[in-house]
Parts: sequence; C-alpha cells; structure tokens
Amino acid sequence: MAEPLLDVDRVTLRYKTPQSLVTATHRVKFRVERGDRYVLLGPSGCGKSTLLKAVGGYLFPSEGAIRINGRKVDGPGADRMMVFQEFDQLLPWKTVAENVAFPLRVARKLSKAEANERARAYIDKVNLTKFADSYTHTLSGGMKQRVAIARGMAMEPDILLMDEPFAALDALTRRRMQDELLQLWADTHFTVLFVTHSIAEAIRIGSRILLLSPHPGRVKAEIEDVAAVGGDSR
Ligand SMILES: Nc1ncnc2c1ncn2[C@@H]1O[C@H](COP(=O)(O)OP(=O)(O)O)[C@@H](O)[C@H]1O
Ligand SMILES: [Mg+2]
Repeated sequence: MAEPLLDVDRVTLRYKTPQSLVTATHRVKFRVERGDRYVLLGPSGCGKSTLLKAVGGYLFPSEGAIRINGRKVDGPGADRMMVFQEFDQLLPWKTVAENVAFPLRVARKLSKAEANERARAYIDKVNLTKFADSYTHTLSGGMKQRVAIARGMAMEPDILLMDEPFAALDALTRRRMQDELLQLWADTHFTVLFVTHSIAEAIRIGSRILLLSPHPGRVKAEIEDVAAVGGDSR
C-alpha cells in the first residue's frame, strides 16, 4: 500500500507540569492523503491543538509515532506550515509582502527577487494585491488571516496546518473565509489539516472529518463521506 502523506499512528500526547501529568490525547490514529481537506473536530480541550503542534514537530508523542512521507517527525520543518487563530502571528513592523516573503528567504533560501515574486503571487491568490505594501497592523482580522494563509501557502509545504484560523472572526467574515479557502483548494489542491470545534465549519471545509472526544482526546469516529452528511461536494 502506498505511504500516506501524514500518518498519525496511535499517538498519546502528555503535558508534564510540576503539579500533574495531563494526558491530552490517547492513541489517536488517522492518515491524511495528498489533496485531503482533513478536519479534526471536537470540543474544547480534546487535544486538537496539541495534535496539530505534534504534527508541526513542536511536541513529541509519549506513545506512537507521527510520519510525514514515511519519515518520522523529529522537529519543525518547512514541509509543514502552521496557520493559527490569533491575529498577532504576523510581524507588525513588516508589510504584507515582507511578511510573506520573509520565510521564503530564510527557510526556502530564495533570492530577494524570487521571494518577492512568489510572495506577490500568493498575495494575489488571497485577494490582497492592493494591500501588498501595507503594514499588517492596518488590516482587519480577516485580512490578517489571509496574509497568514498566503505566507503558509507560499512556502508550498506538503501540508498546511490550520488551528481554528477563522474562530476569532465575525460570522460573515468567517463564512467568506471558508469559501475563499475552498476556492484556493479548488485552484491548487493543496493538503490541509484543519482544526475546528464547529460542526458547521467541519462539514463546510472537510473532505474527511475525524471526530474526537475529550479527556483525553480519543477518536470517536472518522467520517469519510462528508457530502453524505450535508457537506460541500467539491
Ligand atoms: N501547555 C500545557 N500544559 C498543560 N496542559 C495543557 C497544555 N496545553 C494544553 N493542555 C491540556 O491538554 C488538553 C488538550 O488541550 P488542547 O490541545 O489545547 O485542546 P483543544 O485545542 O482541543 O481545545 C487540555 O486538557 C488542556 O488543558
Ligand atoms: Mg485548540
């Protein structure tokens, strides 16, 4: 059988604090294939962010393993880019274009001209062309999230990791951002692992959904055919 892009294999994640040992997830198992819009859905505290950080290489499993293209994750890498919920994930002293170009220069080692060209192309994709030279603190929350998405996508990672990226937006903006993400996916067919606690959002975004239950987070169900439960059939 072909290797999946991402293999989360019976992963238990724990936090050690001076007072206690918190088990955030218990033997969670799922696989993400290329082109999936894979959603982790569950209530607050079920370990979604913890799982995403472990896929990102910022935390390590106490049990089980995480593999990307068959290789065990042993730290952060440009093959996995993260988009967070918080609007302050950008560098406020840099413009939109500089924010997107910066990691391309540092992690992808592109020349200034190449990085700028690629940054502009992805800024176009998220409809921020007119704001490329604006400082990010002048932008709305939705626009900041578009910059973060452009920055992640411009790195052309194997997988984009999104941790409730639209949760802090008002309902209309959130809906618009969901549509734009689906449009981007229709254009470029990237792979995304998307975390949310909203059932409606999971059904709109996901091609596959993993349902988690809390304390500790465990797999409750995997929904392979989201269209059948009322999702977008794209
Ligand atoms: N830094 C930490 N130290 C100790 N416990 C933590 C830490 N971060 C998260 N947890 C605990 O791990 C569990 C999962 O948290 P989290 O992954 O943030 O859940 P979710 O993103 O699904 O809301 C929760 O019980 C939470 O309290
Ligand atoms: Mg979280």
